[in-house]
Amino acid sequence: MADIFQRLVKNYGPIGQHRERAHGYYAFPRLEGEINSRMKFRGKEVIVWSLNNYLGLANHPEVRKIDAEASAQYGLAYPMGARMMSGNTTLHEQLERELAAFENKEDAILLNYGYQGIMSIIDAVCSRHDVIVYDAECHASIIDGLRMQLGHKFVYKHNDIADLEKQLQRATALVDKQGQGGILIISEGVFGMAGDQGKIKEIGDLKKKYEFRLLVDDAHGFGTLGKTGAGVGEEQNCQDAIDLYFSTFAKSMASIGAFLAGDRIIMDYIRYNIRSQIFCQKFTDAICCRQLKKIKNAPNNAGVKRKVVEQRIETAKRFKRKRI
Ligand SMILES: Cc1ncc(COP(=O)(O)O)c(C=O)c1O
Repeated sequence: MADIFQRLVKNYGPIGQHRERAHGYYAFPRLEGEINSRMKFRGKEVIVWSLNNYLGLANHPEVRKIDAEASAQYGLAYPMGARMMSGNTTLHEQLERELAAFENKEDAILLNYGYQGIMSIIDAVCSRHDVIVYDAECHASIIDGLRMQLGHKFVYKHNDIADLEKQLQRATALVDKQGQGGILIISEGVFGMAGDQGKIKEIGDLKKKYEFRLLVDDAHGFGTLGKTGAGVGEEQNCQDAIDLYFSTFAKSMASIGAFLAGDRIIMDYIRYNIRSQIFCQKFTDAICCRQLKKIKNAPNNAGVKRKVVEQRIETAKRFKRKRI
């Protein structure tokens, strides 16, 4: 019989195999100083390209003040327990209401982390008879959510509406043949790797021809796209076509946690069936406080953000040109 651990130390995996050279440098670097586009690395000032702090809120003095006040008031443990048991508070519910209003949806559900949240949303929504059609460049958290699914999954070429339609036809034929199940399309609002927007409006328009529900992971669009920062649906004027609007707080909101927004009856179903949240300690009221503050300021930040993003793209282009 093989020892499981032996296999692990023989092959450390695609990134792990470079760990001796990379550790502490390309992988797990220790950045020091204030969270910013310039930080200290090994005693030197360096430019940081990979921060998620899209709007620069991580160190915003008002946000820091709220963090300090909320921590003093609630501590960093309150409340204890999963929300369904003993971990629900008025601040959680207030934040959900404000997120729903901000996204122009009936209701919202808080999630501890984006990664486990979206995996678990897919699990809660889809049965083994449902068919999922998803963009080839979806984030790892979506792919891992798909791995838990027993039903059929069809991938379409990145942002290729013609190919999506082909896969939708396959999915529709399969569901018709089964005589049960439905179709869920999954796309990102802004794709994390290439930075391009998902064609959400065009996908939504396909509802005139096909029957499906649409889940959009707008991790990178929330707070940065649209007039008020409500994300890709607002930017492309198609928020109503998005049945399940998801985002993490880990990017523009410079925090942890995530949320899902949609119709009240569906949110209620998910609230009572999303295993990663039911069997899990909820995030604290102190985190709720900082999120509430940022949601309130989001429309003001939305104007600033476009400038920041445009400047960053420009700098990246210049940097690339120089290297070439
Ligand atoms: C598109 C997308 N979805 C989900 C996540 C996971 O979010 P979190 O960091 O809150 O777990 C990320 C994070 O990188 C992401 O880019």
